[in-house]
Amino acid sequence: MIVRARMGSPLHGSVRLPGDKSVSHRASLLAGMAGGTSRIDGMLQAGVTRAMLDSLAALGIEWHWEGETLVVMGAGRRGFPKPDSHKTVGAGLVPALHCGNSATTIRLLAGALAGKPRWSGASKGESYVLDGSSQLRKRPMKRIIEPLREMGAEIRSDGDRNFAPIIIKSTALKGIDHRTPVASAQVKTCILLAGLNASGSTSVEEPSPSRDHTERLLKWLGVRTEVGPNRVRVHPLDAPLPPLALRVPGDFSSAAFLLVAASIVPGSDVLLRGVGLNPRRTGLLSVLRRMGARIEEVGRSESSGEPVGDLRVVSAPLAGTAVDGAEVVDMIDEFPVLAVAAACAEGATVVRGASELRHKESDRISVLAAELRGIGAAVEETADGFSICGGGALRGGRGDAHGDHRLAMSLAVAGLASKDGVEVDGAECIAESFPDFLPLLGSLGASIG
Ligand code: S3P
Repeated sequence: MIVRARMGSPLHGSVRLPGDKSVSHRASLLAGMAGGTSRIDGMLQAGVTRAMLDSLAALGIEWHWEGETLVVMGAGRRGFPKPDSHKTVGAGLVPALHCGNSATTIRLLAGALAGKPRWSGASKGESYVLDGSSQLRKRPMKRIIEPLREMGAEIRSDGDRNFAPIIIKSTALKGIDHRTPVASAQVKTCILLAGLNASGSTSVEEPSPSRDHTERLLKWLGVRTEVGPNRVRVHPLDAPLPPLALRVPGDFSSAAFLLVAASIVPGSDVLLRGVGLNPRRTGLLSVLRRMGARIEEVGRSESSGEPVGDLRVVSAPLAGTAVDGAEVVDMIDEFPVLAVAAACAEGATVVRGASELRHKESDRISVLAAELRGIGAAVEETADGFSICGGGALRGGRGDAHGDHRLAMSLAVAGLASKDGVEVDGAECIAESFPDFLPLLGSLGASIG
């Protein structure tokens, strides 16, 4: 699919954002583990969350939609029953869970399936194969395999290469105190979920704190959880989790594209409603404001343990800035669209300490730099980031999404502020996280389609 975006009228109006991807993943998995029926309002309906729901269905968990609400009948005391789809591994058939393009799905499921629940009595359980698309098979899994093994998990990867497919036999685990070399909420959550089924407590310490949706949800569900500045500890469950009744906040990472679009298209004035404002997610807000963006918070409330508010953004001239350190983690998914803002800003923007970007849906340093250069931006790649010299409108041209939803949407946003417009090849991947991106931008008056 090709998306064409070009300079047109200013963006005006008000939109509600789709549900947060990270909270949706966690809420649906915890609901699958819980005892009883959970109701999740505003659950994100997109490719990556579908991967989690399909995996839960393959694990024998029943769920259905009631309008925008996902209703999940949790496994509870019986644990995950025997799945019905299988894959050949070595001599035998073991159940296969297809996680599509979703690294969150595979890493979180690995943690949830590694341990045999303590109340189940048995020390050994089912075997599972967790697999995904060719793109997912390139994402690093050593970061979860090693700590899970330290907990006693029976886990291996195909040919011990530390990539998917991953084979797990669920077994009794012991709690560990783990220090992660990279700040990663997927790794942290994987270990914490395994810790729920371990003997003794489990802690994870990170170099700087990553998104804390798991900690918030577990606390909200009454799980004994201790949270320090860079460390979180969970205590094991003696009984299944209680069912969830929860409203998912709007996704700040989806809002990010509209914040940048409205900032760089002159004359724009847009209201984004119901946006999750968890401080571990809103790093881009501080960075854009530092660059001169006019973004105002209108009202704030709390929804199921997460801060939520409306954001009004009015276009403004931007200036370059520097991004480094803990700020990188708080905006880890927003660098492709920050790069677009930087290309439209006056002066240099320098990003350092962001080598994790090389392990995302695409290499979000090399691929991003090459694609932005292709539409006229002055970008230099470095080992752990990039620098962009902005100023004046972008030329435009043709770009490729490389199967990366955030790169596709960023290129489209760039098109709205470019002389010749931008054509984005392979834009179907937008449906992985934000299926309504085009209609939503169109409803604000953008020349996109
Ligand atoms: C996510 C954590 C981040 C982020 C991803 C979602 C999560 O990944 O990039 O889109 O839901 O925990 P890492 O934990 O690998 O940094």
